[in-house]
Amino acid sequence: MTRRTAIATITGSTLALAACHKKRNMEEVHDIDSFAHPTQVRVKHCSLDLTVNFHDKKLEGSAGLNLVRTDPKAPLILDTRDLHIDEVRCGKYQDGAPASSYAECKFTIGNRDPILGSPLTVNLPAGTDYVLIQYASQPEASGLQWLEPHQTAGRRHPFLYSQNESIHARSWIPIQDTPSVRLTYDATIRIQANYAQALIALMGAEHQGSGNGVFRFSMDLPIPSYLIALAVGELHFRDTGQRSGVYAEPPIIDSATREFADTEKLMEAVEDLYGPYRWGRYDLLILPPSFPFGGMENPRLTFATPTVIAGDKSLVSLVAHELAHSWSGNLVTNATWSDFWLNEGFTTYIENRIQERVYGQEVALMEQVLDRRVLDKELREFDKRDQILHIDLAGRDPDDTMSEIPYFKGALFLRQMEEVFGRPTFDEYLKKYFNHFAFQSITTATALDYLRTELLGDYPRKAKQIPVNEWVYQPGLPAPAPQAVSERLNAIRDKANQWAAHETSARDIDTANWVTQEWLEFLQVLPNPLPPARMTELDQALHLTRTGNDEILDQWLLMSIDSGYTHAFPRLEGFLLHVGRIKYIRPLYVALMKTPKGQARAKEIYRKARPGYHPIAQAAIDKIVK
Ligand code: BES
Ligand code: ZN
Repeated sequence: MTRRTAIATITGSTLALAACHKKRNMEEVHDIDSFAHPTQVRVKHCSLDLTVNFHDKKLEGSAGLNLVRTDPKAPLILDTRDLHIDEVRCGKYQDGAPASSYAECKFTIGNRDPILGSPLTVNLPAGTDYVLIQYASQPEASGLQWLEPHQTAGRRHPFLYSQNESIHARSWIPIQDTPSVRLTYDATIRIQANYAQALIALMGAEHQGSGNGVFRFSMDLPIPSYLIALAVGELHFRDTGQRSGVYAEPPIIDSATREFADTEKLMEAVEDLYGPYRWGRYDLLILPPSFPFGGMENPRLTFATPTVIAGDKSLVSLVAHELAHSWSGNLVTNATWSDFWLNEGFTTYIENRIQERVYGQEVALMEQVLDRRVLDKELREFDKRDQILHIDLAGRDPDDTMSEIPYFKGALFLRQMEEVFGRPTFDEYLKKYFNHFAFQSITTATALDYLRTELLGDYPRKAKQIPVNEWVYQPGLPAPAPQAVSERLNAIRDKANQWAAHETSARDIDTANWVTQEWLEFLQVLPNPLPPARMTELDQALHLTRTGNDEILDQWLLMSIDSGYTHAFPRLEGFLLHVGRIKYIRPLYVALMKTPKGQARAKEIYRKARPGYHPIAQAAIDKIVK
């Protein structure tokens, strides 16, 4: 199917939905994280043609934008950050192609805002509905990481990947970088001749063919800009099912394929609950260890950290999470970053439901208990204003307000509704919600309106038990909030307490059948800090410094820093130099910075580690170490 017919099909089959979508978009969705005015001019399709220049660390080429102009006098305002704009041409799009007569047109680039970047304003002549922008990204683009060969598993070739969420698409594409705008796209990605043999390009889109280092993609379903994704590297592929598979560098493709063998089962579990998977394929891309997140739900192609390859599938909850975003997030999308909890809270809830179906209730309960501990800790540590699900981002970079609160508090809110209305009713409601808002971007207010009319209104007496406004607009947790109990973790807690009280020795603790969650529980309930001699006893019996599980290692290294357990410090340094996942490294640097000796160590390590971190991770750690 060519792109043109694909778009025609979509337009035809979703006409009714589009009409209602349009109306909804006209509802004033004000996104303070974008310069765009989509109610005046809206980008509906983007055609990228980009050359990957590893030598200069730049993407160079063009973006062609198809526009819907509601206000014929209004200019097109795009978001950019540190882009080099060479030229803008304007014209008319006819018969599925830009007419040949399109001409250079005037544009201005506004002052650079430290959070938002610079608005690119294009004066649109009358009748124009297509602009073609020639541009290049800069080496320091916040949404790209350019890796040297030694930073990859294969160590032979460079690697490039993008990470657009929340507002980094604008650092490599001039675009209306707000999740309230959805667009389709196609892309031609050109790899320079000297790399064309060894490297492939991947996007979170349908692959349309390739040859001689040129790769073509198309995404015919309307998505927000933060879900556009690109990766280039020496990558191999293995199937994990009919419609799923894994891309990874050759040295890890085998272990990755084994770890993610259950992907198809996970997909079937969500489909059973909330209806068909609408994106065609679901593949995983395992990135080099500097990837700053655990996972990113790029459509058709989840990006994931290699730190989840534990060897025993114990961290595949990450796949359940990113897969769940195919419904909550990618199908029904937060309209602004203040509505982020609609993406992450719903997804965390679904993640747990998938786990329950595929791995059983005990595993699901253990996760809930561990999540709750993290939530309680963050509720103690974060400002009141950041405990509110509908978060106020005025004057702040969305990257700086990131916490687990929208994840775990949001999921608890849904859990309470499940408990009050009963599973069948709540499952039915969620399924209806995903179908009703499919391929739309919605605000918290819209989601709550729908909740009131389609669920709460039907059960007024039960609805009284759910303090909706408190959940969404107040800090902390409403009382009573659901509280999970796990017998398996209770047993672990007893063992930890006995050891802490010197009633047992570490050698007597039988850890042979422990899963990751049990290890985490054991370590988290121990007194902190432990004296170094006690850390030594644990380590000699349980070999924690040598663990191959990064989730457990991270917890152990944190305790080692607080304890002053120097035996683990070489491993700590190795970990910080190798891994760039913010969730792991930020708490480690924070812990180091608590003492003068630790500060010196943090600075020394960070000096060496920083060049290997992603720009987003660099920004996060700069705030701690500098
Ligand atoms: N969409 C997020 C990642 C994200 C959020 C990137 C905000 C940039 C800004 C993704 O789905 C996510 O939540 N990842 C988690 C993993 C998960 C299992 C909770 C992560 O990266 O830790
Ligand atoms: Zn998520």
